[in-house]
Amino acid sequence: MLLQTASLLFLVLATAASPTRLVSRSPVSLPLARHFNFTGATKIVERDRARAQTFKTGSLATRAVDPDSVTNAVVSYTTTVQVGSSAKPYELIVDTGSANTWVGANSSNSYVRSSTSQPVLLGGFYVPYGSGSVEGFLWKDQVTIGNLTVLNQIIGAATVSNGFEGVDGILGIGPTDLTTGTSVLPTIPTVIDNAFSAKSIDQKKVGVFFAPTTASEAGEIIFGGADPSKYTGSLNYVPITSTSPASSYVGIDQSIKYGESTTILATTAGIVDTGTTLLLLATDAYNAYVNATGAMLDSTTGLLKITPAQYANLESLFFTIGDSIYEFTANAQIWPRSLNTAIGGTAGSIYLIVSDIGSSSGSGLGFINGMSFLQRFYTVYDSATPSFGIATTAYTDSTDN
Ligand SMILES: *[C@@H]1O[C@H](CO)[C@@H](O)[C@H](O)[C@H]1NC(C)=O
Ligand SMILES: *[C@@H]1O[C@H](CO)[C@@H](O)[C@H](O)[C@H]1NC(C)=O
Ligand SMILES: *[C@@H]1O[C@H](CO)[C@@H](O)[C@H](O)[C@H]1NC(C)=O
Ligand SMILES: *[C@@H]1O[C@H](CO)[C@@H](O)[C@H](O)[C@H]1NC(C)=O
Repeated sequence: MLLQTASLLFLVLATAASPTRLVSRSPVSLPLARHFNFTGATKIVERDRARAQTFKTGSLATRAVDPDSVTNAVVSYTTTVQVGSSAKPYELIVDTGSANTWVGANSSNSYVRSSTSQPVLLGGFYVPYGSGSVEGFLWKDQVTIGNLTVLNQIIGAATVSNGFEGVDGILGIGPTDLTTGTSVLPTIPTVIDNAFSAKSIDQKKVGVFFAPTTASEAGEIIFGGADPSKYTGSLNYVPITSTSPASSYVGIDQSIKYGESTTILATTAGIVDTGTTLLLLATDAYNAYVNATGAMLDSTTGLLKITPAQYANLESLFFTIGDSIYEFTANAQIWPRSLNTAIGGTAGSIYLIVSDIGSSSGSGLGFINGMSFLQRFYTVYDSATPSFGIATTAYTDSTDN
């Protein structure tokens, strides 16, 4: 009896001594909102291509962004985080194509110092996005994401920004190295890095679920894992590609077939990006797609257009990622018809979301799987391994477009 009590006491003490080893933290999820801005929406393709150009050349090469050429994204997926001891809310674009987090795009809702704010020495910052840019000053502060408070997070307070009107800034959740050169600091840890270092999350994973624009729900982002309630089937992981420049981003190797037998893109490196609207393909793959579908370029919207008869014959695209094949249906390949007039198109027409990236394959950036792709699949970025996970969702085969 005495022995039993002693060992029980030992067990209790041992448990108390190492609580973090026994407690598994649940991932922290946040709902997303969709933000629309149709001003300048006829420039979707130009905007996406400008962003692709920045991915290709590395950030600092495009320092001179012409503010007049900058257009807001037509659709942005945003989430609300709180900053500082006053928990001031900011609506931020979820971006896997960059890693700086900043607020103040709306000058009427700029960064406000509170008791938790600490200035960063020589803390100027500048981030070019191709489709916009931001500059301002860095602060160390607390950022609250759902029920998770990340302490000592370095964030930007914008003094000038272009291309992000109607939102408060960016939640950059891409690879941390993308912050290199944006300030005098070697890199700036992301909220995922800091939450992981503080043991608030167990894994350096972020799960992204974008519901299509036609759905009533907008989506969810989850920190520290993936959300099984948002995907169907199995979640398959592949390593981040080793081919530059895609390797600096959420980059993967992928091949694409049109229908069962026509390869339009042989296995090549490219990226998955929450900040790009369309599915951009290397020029040779795009030409093969145009040839296969019979689509014509529509000069008003800048998108490819097909006739109802061509749509009836439009075959699925098949994406091979790792050992798995993902079907991207004909319906997934068309721009949501309810948004045709919003982008300057005509109500009854059928436009395609596949566009030309502006350079040939084999350059290390053979595709960008943007929002149009992400609206059909669940994805996970694990910066620890580093790897990328993908699964189907309830919307993969949706016919709502
Ligand atoms: C946040 O809330 C969820 C669900 O209520 C919970 O499972 C999780 O452990 C919480 N996380 C933290 C860091 O408190
Ligand atoms: C900017 O912020 C102010 C203050 O919160 C808000 O009233 C206004 O609607 C915001 N502007 C935009 C374009 O979101
Ligand atoms: C929409 O975007 C344009 C730039 O493309 C910007 O000037 C305008 O303020 C934005 N409108 C809203 C409501 O965000
Ligand atoms: C276009 O399609 C035809 C068959 O439909 C094929 O013979 C030809 O090689 C294709 N051209 C290109 C550039 O893919």
